[in-house]
Amino acid sequence: MILSLIVAADENNGIGINGNQPAFISADLKRFKSITQGNTIVMGRKTFEALPKGALPNRRNIVLTRQHDFRADHCEVIHSPGEIDNICQPGEKVFVIGGGEIYRHFLTRAGHIYQTLIHHTFSEIDTWFPEISEEEWTVEGREGPFRDVKSGYSFSYIDWVRI
Ligand SMILES: NC(=O)c1ccc[n+]([C@@H]2O[C@H](COP(=O)([O-])OP(=O)(O)OC[C@H]3O[C@@H](n4cnc5c(N)ncnc54)[C@H](OP(=O)(O)O)[C@@H]3O)[C@@H](O)[C@H]2O)c1
Repeated sequence: MILSLIVAADENNGIGINGNQPAFISADLKRFKSITQGNTIVMGRKTFEALPKGALPNRRNIVLTRQHDFRADHCEVIHSPGEIDNICQPGEKVFVIGGGEIYRHFLTRAGHIYQTLIHHTFSEIDTWFPEISEEEWTVEGREGPFRDVKSGYSFSYIDWVRI
């Protein structure tokens, strides 16, 4: 299993407000799709519930919940982070797509972080990405800043790899 995290965060690592993402940037959504398509995604139950159409197509969807009776169409359900090792194959590309609780479970195990940094500080943030320690992670690639005309936000793509 090749484990990566993929996230869109603001300047303070803010990733969520009241169950939703603080901003949607269409170029970033396209990038998310191209990186994750054909691969496996892992998400917390709350992030799953926030997906407007349920499971994301053309990807193996895995949802983490403590509820033993939880079922969702086109999803596999796991009940602890460690279960991922039992159901994913060596070499399988697995992307942790959020939210805050789930990123914290998998950060120490991931080798790569695909970070979209939104150059803004949102108010009312209630969910954060964990701190990326520069003692453990280094920037492998950086693109941007770009500007999203629709939302007005500028953003950069930062690829981190574990040192
Ligand atoms: N900006 C981004 O890139 C991004 C990406 C994804 C999500 N988000 C945002 O993040 C927010 C949601 O994040 P969140 O932290 O509140 O929730 P979350 O991480 O999506 O899901 C939390 C849920 O996961 C399950 N869970 C957590 N730890 C577990 C464990 N050890 N074993 C089994 N199940 C476990 C529990 O589900 P049960 O309660 O069912 O037991 C828990 O309530 C939303 O605002 C969303 O929009 C942002």
